[in-house]
Formats: sequence, structure tokens, C-alpha cells
Amino acid sequence: MFDKQGRKINYIRISVTDLCNLRCRYCMPEEGIFKKNHQDILRIEEIEEIVRVGAKLGINKVRITGGEPLVRKGIVKLVEKISDIDGINDIALTTNGTLLKKYARDLKEAGLKRVNISIDSLNKNKYEAVTRGGDLQRVLEGIEAAKKEGLTPIKLNVVLIGGFNDDEIGDFIKLTIDDEIDVRFIELMPIGQASTWAKERFTPNTIVLEKYPKLVPICKEDKGSPAKYYRLPKAKGRIGLINPISSHFCRNCNRIRVTSDGKIKPCLHSNLEIDIREFRKLEMNLFDIFKNAIESKPRKHNINNHEYEPIIREMYQIGG
Ligand code: 5AD
Ligand code: SF4
Repeated sequence: MFDKQGRKINYIRISVTDLCNLRCRYCMPEEGIFKKNHQDILRIEEIEEIVRVGAKLGINKVRITGGEPLVRKGIVKLVEKISDIDGINDIALTTNGTLLKKYARDLKEAGLKRVNISIDSLNKNKYEAVTRGGDLQRVLEGIEAAKKEGLTPIKLNVVLIGGFNDDEIGDFIKLTIDDEIDVRFIELMPIGQASTWAKERFTPNTIVLEKYPKLVPICKEDKGSPAKYYRLPKAKGRIGLINPISSHFCRNCNRIRVTSDGKIKPCLHSNLEIDIREFRKLEMNLFDIFKNAIESKPRKHNINNHEYEPIIREMYQIGG
């Protein structure tokens, strides 16, 4: 279906849990995460129904996010149910990769097409530091397992943090030479935990091009992807630059989000939320709730101007 600005909305991102087995510094506080009541979290059947209705409205692409989606019980069953829905032809998952070795095969069998894996450092100690305790080796094994099962093309998401991983850009780029892996550098967004970080941390990802002028732009961009892609001559994989704030992505926005507690978020950078269960109590059917949510999608975010209100939810509650 099309929204009021004529944008075709065909992509839904569903956060299946707020919980995570890591504590990345820019994403989660170290302590004081209040576990939501079990009954506030959408049940697997409810998520399935949301996607079913979405498919009737023209959604054909689903991404499962978190927190960390692989800590959610029933995740494999959910993937299986979603991949059985008529009209859904692409189902992907964004994960920190730590549990991927355990689940890659089951996810593939359930119908998952591909994974995006968050990995902000290739150095064991730095990875442990940024995730507050994560084990890099498990992620690397997760990436291998995903490759082996054909959950491809694999995309690695790297949040660029000034003074932390900007010296590793070359190491990440090397990963694309022999493998069909896309490495995407994401600019740090000043929201949630990162909202009070020093400005030196917010490195523009144009430094990737400054440091590696050999990267050539790839003309055929994925429409609907916020990344601009480049490639090293002869490399198999690509380098993506994602600039969530300054890119004029809003114009091509094709997506809608659902939080794990059942709120539809028409825009990442707006606090507008549509509480599915509340509307259902008013006897509204899910089709109309969904349709209204798409219609209420803001034209663009206000993040660079005075109308901007800070986002109340943290990133781990939205799923990126
Ligand atoms: N800025 C940029 N990316 C972020 N993510 C989480 N918080 C932020 C932030 N403040 C990223 C994660 C993951 C994706 C889901 O969102 O690293 O790759
Ligand atoms: Fe977990 Fe991802 Fe947030 Fe890290 S960025 S704490 S892996 S949800």
C-alpha cells in the first residue's frame, strides 16, 4: 500500500524482544533494564497475525530484530510461520551473532533467507569492551555458521565510533575481498545511551572514502536500502555507508516498525506510536489499525530542526 506521500510501504521490521545478552555501550545501560511483563510482549501468534495482515496490505519483506531476537523463545517457530505467509518473499534477521552458531541451521530450515550481524570491532578486547563482556569468537563462529547454511548475502553492521574503531576500517574492508560479505558502516546516532556522548565519537562515515579512495561507487543501489554501496576493485563483497540522519532517506522510506510490546511505529525518529492492543479493545480490526498507521507515517524526520522532540524509546526497544 502507498502512504499519503505516495511512498510504497512493503517492508516491516518487527522487534520480538527488548532483551539482549550483550550490553553495547551506545545501545543499552549497564544495569537497570526493567524486564517487561510477559503479558505486555506480543505473543508469537500475535506477531504472525500482524505479518499476515501486513501481507494483505502489500508487505512482502520482513525483518526480525530485537534487542537480540535469538534470545526470544519460539523464534524458530515464528520464522517458520512467517515464511509460510502468502506474499512474504523475503525474511531476514538482525542479530548480534552470538547465538547464531546454535540456531543457523534451524533458522535456515524454517525459511529464513539472510542475516545482518552487528560487529563493531574485530579485536577481541575491544569487542569485549564495547559490548561489556561479549565474546568475539562466538560471533565469528556465528558468521561462519551463517555462511555455511547459506543465510546470504551476509551483511555486517559496524557502528563507527570515533577514537574506538575508526582505526579498524581497513580490517573490515578486507573482509569483503574474498567473501561475498557486505560490510556496512553506520554513523552513530545521538539517541538513547549515545545521546550524551562526546562529539568526537560521532565520526561521519565519509572518512571511509577519505581513507580508502580506491573504493568505487556502485551505481545500482538497492532501492529501499539506506546504504550507499561501494566496492574495492575485484572484491566479492561491498562496502555500505549508512548515514541515518543526514541521508535524505525519508523520501524513499518503505518501512514500518512494530515494537515488542505491540506498538506500530510509522517512523524511527518520531514518538508517534499506535498501540495495537488498545485499538483492538475498541473493536477495531487489525487491518484498519495497520492501514491507519501507514497513512499516519510522517513525511520526514525533524531531527535536524527545532520541531524535533527527542526519542523516548531506546534503540534496543526499537531494533534499529
Ligand atoms: N546509532 C547507530 N546505530 C545503532 N544501533 C543501536 N544503537 C545505535 C545508535 N545509537 C545499531 C546496532 C545494530 C542495529 C540494529 O542498530 O549496532 O547494528
Ligand atoms: Fe544488544 Fe544489539 Fe544493543 Fe548490542 S546493539 S546491546 S547487541 S541490541
